[in-house]
Amino acid sequence: MTRPAIPITTNPAEAAERLRAGGLVVIPTETVYGLGADADNHAALGRVYEVKGRPAGHPLIIHVADLDTAGHWADTSSAAAQALAETCWPGPLTLLLPKRDRVSDIITGGRDTVGIRVPAHPLTLEMLRLHGGAVAAPSANRFGRVSPTTVEHVLDDLTGHLNPDTDLILDGGPSTIGVESTIVDLVADPPEILRPGGIPTEDIERILGLSMGAARGPSRASGMLASHYAPRTPMMLVSDRASATKLADGNTVIIDRTDDLVDAARHLYDDLRRADRAGVDRIVAVLPPATGLGHALRDRLTKAAAGRGPEPPSREG
Ligand code: TXA
Ligand code: MG
Repeated sequence: MTRPAIPITTNPAEAAERLRAGGLVVIPTETVYGLGADADNHAALGRVYEVKGRPAGHPLIIHVADLDTAGHWADTSSAAAQALAETCWPGPLTLLLPKRDRVSDIITGGRDTVGIRVPAHPLTLEMLRLHGGAVAAPSANRFGRVSPTTVEHVLDDLTGHLNPDTDLILDGGPSTIGVESTIVDLVADPPEILRPGGIPTEDIERILGLSMGAARGPSRASGMLASHYAPRTPMMLVSDRASATKLADGNTVIIDRTDDLVDAARHLYDDLRRADRAGVDRIVAVLPPATGLGHALRDRLTKAAAGRGPEPPSREG
């Protein structure tokens, strides 16, 4: 018997209604697709972990329509929070802030902080406005795998895990940025970048008037592992095109988009998924420079290759 398909819509009102009814909604964002649940619905939040295959200790970020709504879920009163939110929201920035009491332990894994952001995708923003509350959403991939930037990627990972009777996919086309949000920990003093992402480190530094040089390495968000965002194909990292070509014997795919970092970010996860589908023996990826989106690209490529390549990545758990 063929499995019934997960319904797909482009109507934000239908998506808001599904969330209210306790279903999971896959949401398009400018970074990657998310697997969303109403942040007040404990049963739905539990299903996010189940569908994703994610261990309980790994907290979820919540998504809201605007800075005012964020204030109902987190303490956004600090000057740093206001400056970053006003400059970067809607956009690929997650702020780690002191949580309000109403935020469930299922979302935070029992922490007293919550990660929160206003995503920049018009359909998801409209859904959030209609919903009025908060939507908890990790990336809509199975745990440890490559994040999804298209509905096709989501279906590859989550078909058979989502429930066609209760769940829905909001189709907003390919994600335009293509790597996850930058996570800034504003509870730490001084603030730290826990995960480099869609907003370059340099922009955060400029807005905060701080140098965050020491925090520029691979991401340290709680629950992040050395190996993550991983294709099934063994992958190695090199520093330039010539080394990639030297290594590319036989059945190899080279990923080198170092000329255009915006384009590199937009295509990164699709490149990794395509290499898996092509059934090649290995992927050789050229590391971009550590500037702009290069911070996020280096982080994701290093994690994707963890334990597999000749240049061992740093491991800080
Ligand atoms: O761009 C994004 O941020 C996407 C889209 C869907 O918004 N979401 C996303 O969520 O990447 P996720 O769950 O795949 O990654 C969020 C990371 C996780 O590593 C999680 O451990 C960390 O943020 N995190 C969330 N809340 C946290 C908290 N209270 N303390 C420390 N780390 C936290
Ligand atoms: Mg993720």
